[in-house]
Amino acid sequence: MNVLHVVGARPNFMKSAPIIAALSYRGVTNVLVHTGQHYDPEMSDAFFDDLGLRDADVHLEVGSASHARQSAMVMERIEPVILERAPDLVVVVGDVNSTLAAALVCAKLLVPLAHVEAGLRSFDRTMPEEVNRVVTDQLSDLLFITSPEAEDNLVREGVAPERIRSVGNPMIDSLERHISRARSRSRVLDRFGLDGTQYGVMTLHRPSNVDSPDVLRGILEAVRDVAAELPILFPAHPRTVNELRANGLSKLVEIGATRAERGEVACVEPLGYIDFLRLMLDARVVLTDSGGIQEETTVLGVPCLTLRSNTERPITISQGTNRLVGSDPDAIRREALAVLAAPMPAPSRPPLWDGKAGERIADEIASWGAARR
Ligand code: UD1
Repeated sequence: MNVLHVVGARPNFMKSAPIIAALSYRGVTNVLVHTGQHYDPEMSDAFFDDLGLRDADVHLEVGSASHARQSAMVMERIEPVILERAPDLVVVVGDVNSTLAAALVCAKLLVPLAHVEAGLRSFDRTMPEEVNRVVTDQLSDLLFITSPEAEDNLVREGVAPERIRSVGNPMIDSLERHISRARSRSRVLDRFGLDGTQYGVMTLHRPSNVDSPDVLRGILEAVRDVAAELPILFPAHPRTVNELRANGLSKLVEIGATRAERGEVACVEPLGYIDFLRLMLDARVVLTDSGGIQEETTVLGVPCLTLRSNTERPITISQGTNRLVGSDPDAIRREALAVLAAPMPAPSRPPLWDGKAGERIADEIASWGAARR
C-alpha cells in the first residue's frame, strides 16, 4: 500500500509522526508532503528534529498569503504530486488551510482521503479552522475521531457512520513517546531561570485575539497583572510578534527576554516540541488559544485557561483541566488568580488517549486497504 501524508503547519507534525511510524512498521510505503505553510525553522524544522520525523519527500514551499491564495497554492502544487505518486490513500490531519486544500484536490481527483481529528466543532464559522474542518470531513472517506462527541457532530452533518473510526488521539502518542526525553534532556527551565520556580506559560496566535489591537492590549494587561504573582513565559508566534510591534504594544511584554522574572511577561521565540513539553510539565498554569495545548495540559494535569469563547475540544473541559475564559481582561485576571489559589488538578485521560492511536489508525488503514483489494 502507498499512503501519502500531507503536513503544513506546526500542529500537524506531532499528529502525523506516530501514524507514519505505525504504517511503516506494517510495511506501508509512506510519502510525506510538506506544504510549507509554516516555514520558519522554529515553526517547522525544529519539530521534525524533535519528533524524529524524516525530511519530507516533497516540499511545496507555499509560504504565507491570504487564506484563499495560500489554499489555492497548495491545491495547484499538490495536484501534480498526487497524480504522479498515485497513492492508494491520502491522510490529512487537523484543520489548517493545508488540510482543506489537500482534501479538495483529492475529492476532485477521486483519490480516497482519510482525515485524522475529524468531527471536532467549535460551531463558530468565524474561525477559519471551523470551515476547514466541516469541508474536509464532508470530503473524507475515512474519518478518525479523537473523542466521542465528534461522532455525533459528523452524523448530524450527514456523514455515514460506517466511515467513522474511534481511534484516540495521536497527539497524545507523541506526548507519551517524548515526555521522558523532555524531562531529562531539555534545558529550557535553566535557560530562562525557571528551575525550581513557580511559573506560568502563555501562547497566543488566533486572529480573534491578536489581530485586534484592543483585544490584544486587554489580554496582555491582564496577563501582566497575573505575572505579579509568578513569572510568565510567552513563546510567541511570529504573527503575534508582528502585531505587537505594528500596534505599539511591545512595551507590555519583554520581547527577547533571556530570563523570565516575576512581574513580567517574558516574550521569547517559539520553542521546539521537546522544550515546550518540558515547560508545560511543571507549569502552574497555562494560558492559551491553541487547540492542541488544551489536550496536552489535560493529560499532564496542568490547569489550562483557554482565551477563547468556545472550544472544539469540549472533552478537555468535561474530563480535563481546561476552562474557557474568553478574552475579557477581568475574566482572565479572576480565573488565573482562582487557579493559583486552588490545588493542582489530577491528570486525566479521555477514552483511548493512551499513546496507541497511531497503531489503531494504521490497523484501520491496513484493513480498509485489504477490503478494497
Ligand atoms: C495556522 C493555522 C492554525 C493553527 C496555527 C498553528 C490556518 C487557517 N491556521 O495559523 O489553525 O493553529 O497555524 O501555529 O491554517 N508566519 C511566519 N513564519 C511561519 C509561519 C507563519 O512568520 O513559519 C507568520 C506570517 O506572518 C503569516 C502568519 O504568521 O502570515 C500567519 O501564518 P498562517 O500559517 O497563515 O496562520 P497561523 O496563524 O500560523
